[in-house]
Amino acid sequence: MPFSLNIMEVMRKIVVALIVVGLAISEKGESRHVRDVTTSFEYSAMNCRAHSASLSDFGGVGDGKTSNTKAFQSAISELSKYSSEGGAQLYVPPGKWLTGSFSVISHFTLYLHRDAVLLGSQDINEWPVLKPLPSYGRGRDAAAGRFTSLIFGTNLTDVIITGDNGTIDGQGPFWWQQFHKGKLKYTRPYLIELMFSDSIQISNLTLLNSPSWNVHPVYSSNIVVKGITILAPVTSPNTDGINPDSCTNTRIEDCYIVSGDDCVAVKSGWDEYGIQFGMPTKQLIIRRLTCISPFSATIALGSEMSGGIEDVRAEDITAIHTESGVRIKTAVGRGGFVRDIYVRKFTMHTMKWAFWMTGNYGSHADKNYDPNALPEIKNINYRDVVADNVTMAARLEGIANDPFTGICLANVTIGLSAKPKKQHWTCTDIEGITSGVTPPPCGLLPDQGPEKITACDFPKDSQPIEELEFKKCSYRLKVA
Ligand SMILES: *[C@@H]1O[C@H](CO)[C@@H](O)[C@H](O)[C@H]1NC(C)=O
Ligand SMILES: *[C@@H]1O[C@H](CO)[C@@H](O)[C@H](O)[C@H]1NC(C)=O
Ligand SMILES: *[C@@H]1O[C@H](CO)[C@@H](O)[C@H](O)[C@H]1NC(C)=O
Ligand SMILES: *[C@@H]1O[C@H](CO)[C@@H](O)[C@H](O)[C@H]1NC(C)=O
Ligand SMILES: *[C@@H]1O[C@H](CO)[C@@H](O)[C@H](O)[C@H]1NC(C)=O
Repeated sequence: MPFSLNIMEVMRKIVVALIVVGLAISEKGESRHVRDVTTSFEYSAMNCRAHSASLSDFGGVGDGKTSNTKAFQSAISELSKYSSEGGAQLYVPPGKWLTGSFSVISHFTLYLHRDAVLLGSQDINEWPVLKPLPSYGRGRDAAAGRFTSLIFGTNLTDVIITGDNGTIDGQGPFWWQQFHKGKLKYTRPYLIELMFSDSIQISNLTLLNSPSWNVHPVYSSNIVVKGITILAPVTSPNTDGINPDSCTNTRIEDCYIVSGDDCVAVKSGWDEYGIQFGMPTKQLIIRRLTCISPFSATIALGSEMSGGIEDVRAEDITAIHTESGVRIKTAVGRGGFVRDIYVRKFTMHTMKWAFWMTGNYGSHADKNYDPNALPEIKNINYRDVVADNVTMAARLEGIANDPFTGICLANVTIGLSAKPKKQHWTCTDIEGITSGVTPPPCGLLPDQGPEKITACDFPKDSQPIEELEFKKCSYRLKVA
């Protein structure tokens, strides 16, 4: 009896299975008409959003040829309804989304699928022109205005630009050629610029071939830039990686940058314009950065530093092939200051100068700079540095009658290249100390002996931005 019962049971299962298969087939047939698919994903962010929509709901076409500038604008304008109702996320699906410049809003997240590529338009009319930045007085490529960045925002709060390593491709060669031919009336656009904004997250993206700088937060605060890969030819013009400019409380971490200019360039305005604007970059954390840029610095402080740069902490930095490590660039006429800079755990391979400070960088906004505006450079600390294949240990050049003071180098081992410069150190107009540094430093940086190895210590407290924690955000979204 149990035998025939089993047969009944098997028959019943087969019938149920057939019904399920039948339903699945008919559902599949129907879904061919509607083509709705649900996608779900999660990631960590400063804030999660109550509303979500896909770019394809707003007429976006991801064929790499159709312009999506209007689709982005209308999507973001529609989503602005939700700013005070939990905020909104715009999802960019797989595809190649050609677009000109567009602006983001407060309480907003732009999320790129891992196979989504934003392609910067090559139609100049897709790039509106802005006034020069007040702290610069003029554009860097041309005196007149500047093209708005691909993703732009001003006077915002709570903005997130992220993705599962989706790509923003600036299609830079078009711009680099025009720049080299001197054909640009305005300064080249950046990929991402946020001005006068608070609470910014830029994470988990790949940025390719920017026309010029890649990420530019300016006059902003409470910023996290995390998990960004930046790639551009090492000979491309001014393709700086990440440039915090007159910003407070910024954390840059876990970034990998190959570029044609400084991987991170810390700035705060230019000569008389920067002095007048008077907004420093301060409370900056840079950690776990890897940089390749054979003709530029791993981290540059300046050259535009007229609003001041203070309290910068950089650690766990790897330079694979760069011109120099953490470079200070300034000039008579800049004014401002660079002070309380702390660097530790820096590994360098293949570079011209492990340490480089330049007091005569020149490069003025115009002829009206004040020759009495001298920068104050002091309390600059480096420790636990290991370098190999270095052409010259250090080139430290302060300013006559305005020495760079409080320079401290401890626990530094520099391996020189097969054909190093005969003189391993050149030092002028600087003051400071060293401990445990090889090759033996210049006379202006006297060795204090091994007991002073902690003289240039990193601060033990933490910065407010280090306390910021991400939330886990989960989304389910119907995408056409
Ligand atoms: C970045 O990606 C990682 C790995 O996919 C994910 O765990 C994390 O939540 C993302 N973080 C941010 C800040 O977007
Ligand atoms: C943005 O904020 C700055 C500084 O507070 C202000 O000068 C400017 O007028 C604001 N711009 C807009 C468009 O609201
Ligand atoms: C993101 O994509 C870039 C470019 O393809 C790749 O080099 C990088 O390893 C990727 N990052 C992650 C976390 O997957
Ligand atoms: C050392 O640096 C030189 C350039 O100065 C480079 O050509 C060479 O490949 C480097 N050697 C190693 C072992 O990295
Ligand atoms: C010196 O630097 C090396 C490399 O970063 C590190 O391993 C070592 O612990 C440091 N020594 C001291 C005394 O801090």
